[in-house]
Amino acid sequence: MTGQSSFVVVANRLPVDEMPSDESGERRWRRSPGGLVTALHPVLVQRDGTWIGWAGSAGPAPAPFMVDGINLHPVPLDADEIARYYEGQSNSTIWPLYHDAVEPPIFRRRWASSYREVNARFSEAAAEVAAPGATVWVQDYQLQLVPDMLRRLRPDLRIGFFLHIPFPPIELFMQLPQRAEIMRGLLGADLVGFQQRLAAQNFVRLAHHVLGCQTSGSVIEHEGRRVKAAAFPISIDIEEIDRLVDNPLILTRSEQIRAELGDPKTIILGVDRLDYTKGIEHRLKAFRELLEENRVGVPDTVMVQVATPSRERVEHYQALRVKVEREVGRINGDFGRVGVPAVHYLHQSYSRSELVALYRAADVMMVTPLRDGMNLVAKEYVAARGDAGGSLVLSEFAGAASELRQAFLCNPHDLDAVKDALVRAVHVDSDEARKRMSIMQRHLRRNDVSHWARSFLTELGSLT
Ligand code: ADP
Ligand code: F6P
Repeated sequence: MTGQSSFVVVANRLPVDEMPSDESGERRWRRSPGGLVTALHPVLVQRDGTWIGWAGSAGPAPAPFMVDGINLHPVPLDADEIARYYEGQSNSTIWPLYHDAVEPPIFRRRWASSYREVNARFSEAAAEVAAPGATVWVQDYQLQLVPDMLRRLRPDLRIGFFLHIPFPPIELFMQLPQRAEIMRGLLGADLVGFQQRLAAQNFVRLAHHVLGCQTSGSVIEHEGRRVKAAAFPISIDIEEIDRLVDNPLILTRSEQIRAELGDPKTIILGVDRLDYTKGIEHRLKAFRELLEENRVGVPDTVMVQVATPSRERVEHYQALRVKVEREVGRINGDFGRVGVPAVHYLHQSYSRSELVALYRAADVMMVTPLRDGMNLVAKEYVAARGDAGGSLVLSEFAGAASELRQAFLCNPHDLDAVKDALVRAVHVDSDEARKRMSIMQRHLRRNDVSHWARSFLTELGSLT
């Protein structure tokens, strides 16, 4: 059972969005925006690569198809599997546990067995399309059992795994009933990549603690093989942002956004998936206290909070939406004026160009997650500023904080620290703001998403 592709990506989702079908009822797709697919596109095209993933709706999978030169191999999920594997084990057990348990993880045996079944399906699909000796790159927390399952089916393959979210310390990981199974699953890879060095260290320690593996530095001995664990901080497609920033229509749109907001002195922006790890409530509370204390005021200062709809059937997400919307209503009730709300709240998805126009319009960007693997929004904001200055308030608990040291860093749990960071960011003089931005931009230019993909694949290719 071997296929044609010498490079295979396995991810929960395919990198395409479905468009309305054509007149004949034929399903149509377009490549979704996103750095990961852009970075991997050249490798996929050169090596007759295939991307395996779920097409995003319940029921039978469409037949394999091609978009932009990439072979796409859909994996089906039925409604029960969406509830148990995706919303359950992936997003109500693993997601909160790996994010410092900022909401309590829920453990259900039925979810774990569905996770196992779906991981086996993805592994079989990869075993079917991979050419002899191919490289297979498995992505993220939804598919942690795939490396081991796939190795058992196809020992000839070179297997990499990258975790896009944090990897927890021993005390937290040990809560997971499937802890040994997950460790064995990941150790099926030759190279396991993390966003942060600390996460890779947690993994090496756990391999010893849970499975008794011998370890030496970043290398783990497992079943007669050597598995390497290392950090590869992901990044953005900086050229895409440059192209958008250079487009005069986007600058016009950003001026229009400022005008529509009433030309305030300061626009504070937040852009996040509506997720409890993102610290949206803490940020709103900090803004409300600053308004109460008259340290900022409407209409001089307004906040725009974009909260992208996400995982809307999961309970914690539903509860968060209620809390955020109540807080926005309360702030606007207390501090808004006719035609000038203090917080503009947008529960919507936007095009890349509208997002970049928003970044260009914003004087201060607030990225204050309680825990985040990386946070690409922080990097996108920095990249979009060009020489226009602007300030980034950034949580110490976002992976991006290890790289973007010139941001106004704060502990999102310490409300006074968030308020002080925000006030400093609002009042920083423009020369200093520009200096901070340009140092961070230089870093991103050297470390974009193509550099990330190259570093991982080069390391994977060099392992013996
Ligand atoms: P996460 O992966 O947890 O959602 P990141 O900040 O790392 O967080 O990545 C989010 C990505 O989604 C960014 O590339 C950002 O531009 C994009 N995004 C966020 N909000 C929206 C939105 N409302 N519409 C379109 N894209 C969005
Ligand atoms: O950052 C983690 C992540 O799962 C990404 O892989 C994904 O693009 C994003 O969050 C959105 O999640 P979902 O696929 O559950 O909508």
